[in-house]
Amino acid sequence: MNYLLISVINRFGIELGFRDKSVLEICREHHIDVRFFLEIVNAFHDKDYFPDEDLQVFSIQLIVDYLIKTHHFYLDEKIPEIENLIEKMVHECYNQKDNPNLLKKFFNEYKEELINHTRREDEVVFPYAIQVEKAFNREKTDPNLEKQMKMYSITNYMNEHDNLEEKLFDLKNIIIKYLPPPKHRSLCNKVLFELFNLEKDINDHSRIEEKVLVPKVITMETHLQQLSN
Ligand SMILES: [Fe+2]
Ligand SMILES: [Fe+2]
Repeated sequence: MNYLLISVINRFGIELGFRDKSVLEICREHHIDVRFFLEIVNAFHDKDYFPDEDLQVFSIQLIVDYLIKTHHFYLDEKIPEIENLIEKMVHECYNQKDNPNLLKKFFNEYKEELINHTRREDEVVFPYAIQVEKAFNREKTDPNLEKQMKMYSITNYMNEHDNLEEKLFDLKNIIIKYLPPPKHRSLCNKVLFELFNLEKDINDHSRIEEKVLVPKVITMETHLQQLSN
């Protein structure tokens, strides 16, 4: 019923055409942890859904793999798709004097921000979270990790985790309020629709980072700190 979940399902590697199989059957076929699948789908479907005790059963590695896949979906699929649409729109919907290149400028800035944001997570935050989980499973820290926990804990990440909405908001605003009426209404609406969808998807993604990943890492960090004292 919720069409926004189609791309979430795809990110798990599930293709359409699954007939009348149950969720459990499909997850088994694709070697997906069904509880994790349901958590993610529910989290996207209902922003208030988050039963925390169940979350403890998933490994951080599983969450991180999913988050990285989502980053790829944004950067390799969604952003180029929207970029093409905007390019088309600038050419077909406005005259040069309307200043449509502003759209491209704002979109490029947004893209840059998104690239930096996801790169930092892929290269710094997620590897750190996995390291914490490994030490937690071994019941043993090492001096290197202890130093790192002091210098950069997951709480630092949480505090610096900026939302990516502002630039998207400006971008939508330019189209809705400040450019003249577009020559091709349907193309313009498609761009807006894609931007709103992307915004929702990224908000849901950030919620999984902040409400699933972070609390799990904090619990492990606290345990490891107690071990090292
Ligand atoms: Fe992310
Ligand atoms: Fe993020």
